Amino acid sequence: MQFRVAILGCGTVGGGVARILLDQQVALHERAGREVELVRIVDLFPKQSAERHGIPRALYAGKGDELSPEQADAEVLGVLEDPDIDLVVETIGGSGPSILGTTRGVLEQGKHLVTANKALLAKHGEELHAAAREHGKGLGFEAAVCAAIPIIRSLEDGLTGEEILSISGIFNGTSNYILSKMDTEGQSFGDALRDAQAKGYAEADPTLDINGGDAGHKLTIVLRLAFGLEVAFEDVPRQGIDTVTAGEVAFAEEMQGVIKLICHAQREGDFVYAAVRPMIVKRTNLLSKIDGATNAVRVIGRYAGENMMIGQGAGSLETGSAIVSDIVFLARYGDHPRPAPPKSELRLRPLGDLKLPYHIVFETADVPGITGIVATAIGHQDINIDSVSHNRHENDNAEFAIATMPCTRAQVDAAVLDIQNNHPGSLLGEPRVLPILI
Ligand code: HSE
Repeated sequence: MQFRVAILGCGTVGGGVARILLDQQVALHERAGREVELVRIVDLFPKQSAERHGIPRALYAGKGDELSPEQADAEVLGVLEDPDIDLVVETIGGSGPSILGTTRGVLEQGKHLVTANKALLAKHGEELHAAAREHGKGLGFEAAVCAAIPIIRSLEDGLTGEEILSISGIFNGTSNYILSKMDTEGQSFGDALRDAQAKGYAEADPTLDINGGDAGHKLTIVLRLAFGLEVAFEDVPRQGIDTVTAGEVAFAEEMQGVIKLICHAQREGDFVYAAVRPMIVKRTNLLSKIDGATNAVRVIGRYAGENMMIGQGAGSLETGSAIVSDIVFLARYGDHPRPAPPKSELRLRPLGDLKLPYHIVFETADVPGITGIVATAIGHQDINIDSVSHNRHENDNAEFAIATMPCTRAQVDAAVLDIQNNHPGSLLGEPRVLPILI
């Protein structure tokens, strides 16, 4: 029996899906155990999309070069109500009421839904999972986290015998590309960002890439699958890379580390401590070796120990490959939908509440005794110092870094406040604080 697929939105990602479905028709038939046929595409610009991806124009809804929004809405409704379509791929994007209504509608009409939409799943995943179960249909979202890396399938299947202790990863390729350029070529943040945009890694509006929002969407999804934590996206602490300076990158280098935008979630007792943060990753950790736009995920399980996956987190065919894997999975097993993601009693806490080693860069007046003042304040907060860097002297200022033994972020903040209150004028600006990932 044929398995009939429609694609809503045929830009970069939808086009990759269509290309693979057309190119791999025979192999996909064998893998799915039934013929997988792409039967309809709805896109606002059918002519442009067909030419860009080399897809037959006849597969697209509508006759002209463009669909009006009203025509597009009517065509989407036509797909949802077509009883011959088994699965709908949503590659439109957005997380507002319109796309939520469309994706819910797919499931309510008794069709499987596959989406790469991390923002939608981070904000409305619980609702979509519930709708899928209610209607006995599958919800595939392998492409939503690190695109081509099969982390979702690993968490849903391969690691179900595990008690996951921690997940750390590089979930945003644009940020990693920018930080790699700052590290290896000494570029400033602004220059590296312009470079990433010129190469097509960063969006024209790269806000979510560099402010940690995109990585935060992915971490929210991972928390649900790995730890049974249903948390609001807004409650996952996030900090982007837009404040990272060339000076910090150089100090990180000096202590055999490299700055990466890391998604980290760690289980301790009844809590999962999590955040998206720029961190210094020590060179002994494999994540430090992941350069350019590449993504990576490191999972540590109580029984399995360390697992690591490295791959492409963006791109037309790379993301398309993950979506097609969901299509094949649902063509094979869709009549027996998965149980709901398990819910646990674990609770979310900010990563700053966990004791971690920290790296603090201080810019100070270049006067005798200042290193002692800073080190004494840190000691007063019961923080053990691991190392103190050399001082960089510039005009009348000095800059140096202190690496601590594990402590909480609140201890670090209290030490800084102590210096600011008791030695006014000695610190020039806020010290730059990064957790260290060993
Ligand atoms: N823009 C993302 C990245 C890919 O740079 O990794 C899509 O989430």
